[in-house]
Amino acid sequence: MCGIVAYIGPRDAAPILLEGLQRLEYRGYDSAGIAVAPPAGAKGAKAAKGARGAHQDAPRELRVRKTKGRVADLAETVPARFKGGAGIGHTRWATHGEPSDANAHPHTDRAGRIAVVHNGILENADELRARLRDEGAEFLSETDTEVLAHLVSAQLAEADGDLEEAVRRSLQQVVGTYGVAVLDAEQPDRIVVARNGSPIVLGIGEKEMFAASDVAALVRYTRQVVHLDDGELAVVRADGFRTFTEDARATAKQPSTVDWEVGSFDTGEYEHFLAKEIHEQPAAVERTLSGRIDDRFATAHLGGLNLDPREARAFRRVKVLGCGSAYYAGELGAQLIEELSRVPAHAEPASEFRYRNPVIEADTLYIAVSQSGETYDTLAAVQEIKRKGGRVLGVVNTVGSAIARECDGGLYLHAGPEISVASTKAFTSTVVAFALIALHFGRVHDLSPADGRRICAGLKALPDQIRQILDHEKKTGQIAELAKRYADHPGMMFVGRVRGWPVAREGAQKLKEVSYVHAEAYPASELKHGPLALIGPELPTVAVVPDDELLEKNLTTLGEIRARRGRVLMVGHTAPDVKLAEDTVLVPRNEPELDPILLGIPLQLLAYHAAVALGRDVDKPRNLAKSVTVE
Ligand code: F6R
Repeated sequence: MCGIVAYIGPRDAAPILLEGLQRLEYRGYDSAGIAVAPPAGAKGAKAAKGARGAHQDAPRELRVRKTKGRVADLAETVPARFKGGAGIGHTRWATHGEPSDANAHPHTDRAGRIAVVHNGILENADELRARLRDEGAEFLSETDTEVLAHLVSAQLAEADGDLEEAVRRSLQQVVGTYGVAVLDAEQPDRIVVARNGSPIVLGIGEKEMFAASDVAALVRYTRQVVHLDDGELAVVRADGFRTFTEDARATAKQPSTVDWEVGSFDTGEYEHFLAKEIHEQPAAVERTLSGRIDDRFATAHLGGLNLDPREARAFRRVKVLGCGSAYYAGELGAQLIEELSRVPAHAEPASEFRYRNPVIEADTLYIAVSQSGETYDTLAAVQEIKRKGGRVLGVVNTVGSAIARECDGGLYLHAGPEISVASTKAFTSTVVAFALIALHFGRVHDLSPADGRRICAGLKALPDQIRQILDHEKKTGQIAELAKRYADHPGMMFVGRVRGWPVAREGAQKLKEVSYVHAEAYPASELKHGPLALIGPELPTVAVVPDDELLEKNLTTLGEIRARRGRVLMVGHTAPDVKLAEDTVLVPRNEPELDPILLGIPLQLLAYHAAVALGRDVDKPRNLAKSVTVE
C-alpha cells in the first residue's frame, strides 16, 4: 500500500525521506520517489540551467527523482547535491496506471513548482483532468494524483499564492479518499498535508517536523505525534504546525506519545518479520494483559471501555466487526463473550456489514477490531454505526489511529508494531483482549467468582504456554518439517468445531496468504454436507481438536477423513490413535474457553514454514498490503 513521508527542518530532507521510505517498504509498493524544495536563496534546477544571474527572477523548480522499483534504486538516482530542507516522498502501489517511472509519485504541475504525493483514490479525477486540460494543463502520467498537482497550481493564483488556501480549495473540489502532502518550490518553509480516509500523522521534532502515513516512518526521529482527522489539513513548518478543517476552521490537536521501539522495525535475529512477530507473542500477550487482571474481584479492569457496570449489563447483544484476520479474531471474541457472559454475540465482516444498510440497535454493543486502526471498511462500518446512534468500542493495536479515535471507548492491544503483512501477534493479542472483555462482562452478569478466578489464572498462564510451544518448535523443528511435507500438496482443508472453527479459518487464511497454497476452512460438522467429496490422498486436512466436550465428535470426523484416505495433521491436546491422524502437534492445555489462543500458534508456524519452504516473499505476499486504507 502507498506510503507518504515528509520532512521540514534544518537538515537535508533527501536522506531522511529515503530512510522514512525504507521504513514503509513493508507495506508493499512498486515505485518510489521524492521531491525536495531548494533552500530559500538557492537556485532551482531551472534557474541553474539559465543564463548567469538569471536565477533571481527565474521561477524556482523542485528537485524530483522517482523510479519504478525499490527505494534502494531510487537512492542511487539521488545526487549528493540534492540539497534542501523541505521535501516529500512516496512509495506507490499502483491503482491508476501501471507501475512506471512516469506514474510514480511525486507528481508536479507543469512548471515543476508544486509537487504532490497522495494515498487513496480520487473518484472524480477524469472530470477534473478534462477541465484542467481545457485550461492548458498537460498530463504526463495516468494517475489521479497528477490532477491534484495541477489543481493546486491553478488554485494558487486565485488564493493569492497562499499554499494552504490553494490546497484547501483544491480538496474541496475533490471526491474520494486521500492522505496527501504538497510542496511548493516558492515556499520552502512549509508543507501542507491533509487527510480524508487515508492516514496522515505529524511527527514533532526539535526545530524540525515530519509527516507520514504511518508512524513506522517517524519513530527513528520522534515519539511525539499528532494524528490528523478526516477532513483536516495541517500546514507544517520547521518550528511547528497549524491544523484546520476543509472549511477553514482552526482545530486544536494534542500530541500523543508513541511507545513503539525502533528495534520493532528491524528483523533482529530473525530472517523474517513474520518469524519475529510469531516469537514476540509471549511478550505481546503479557502487555495486552498488563494491569488489566483484577484478582480481588476475579474480573478484568478495563477503564477504557467507558462503561459503568449498569451500562455493561444493559446490552442485550454484542456485534463484533473486523476484516480478514481481525474478523476471525472477532469470531473467537464473540464466542468468548457469549460463553462467559451469556449475552448473545456474533461477528461479521465489517466489509459486508457496511454495505447492507444494517439495523443498528440501541441495546446492541458494537465492537470494532483492527490492528492498524486504519482499515477503511472497518472505519466505514464504525462511522455508519455512530451515524445511526449506536455505541462502538474498539479493539485496536495502533494508538491514536482513525478507528480508535472514532470509537466511544475500547482497549488497546499494546502488541507492538506489526510489520509483516500477515497478522500474527495482533491476532493473538486481540483474542486475549476479548477474553478480558468477556471476563469483565461475565462478572457483571452471572459468571461466578470461581469461574472468574479460573479465567484469570488461565490468562496469566498464556504467555508461558505460548513460549513452551515456540521453544518446543525451536528444539524439534517438528512443524517446519511437517510444513515441508504438507506444502507439497496443491491444497489443504482446515477443520474445527465451535471453538476450533475460527482457529481453523485463521489457520487457512494464514497458509494461503503467505504460502499461496490453496486452503479451505470448514466447520468439522459441515464436512459431510458437501466438502467431504473433496477429501482424498491429494488433499490433506489440518484438524483443530481440543480436548473439550466435542472431542469425540471431532475424532469421528477424523475417522471419516481417514476412511477416504485423507492425510490428517491434528493440532490438539492428546495424540489420538494413529489410525485417526498421521501427524499430531500438541499444545499445552489451558481453560477450554482460552484453548483456541494456544491452538492457533502451531498454525501460524505451519504457514510460515510452508512459505519459507516454497520460497515465497514471506513478509510481503503478492497482491497484499499491510493496511487496506482504500475501499
Ligand atoms: C491477515 C491480515 C488481514 C488483516 C485485515 C484487517 O493476516 O493481516 O486479513 O487482518 O486486512 O486489518 P486490520 O486489523 O489492520 O484492520
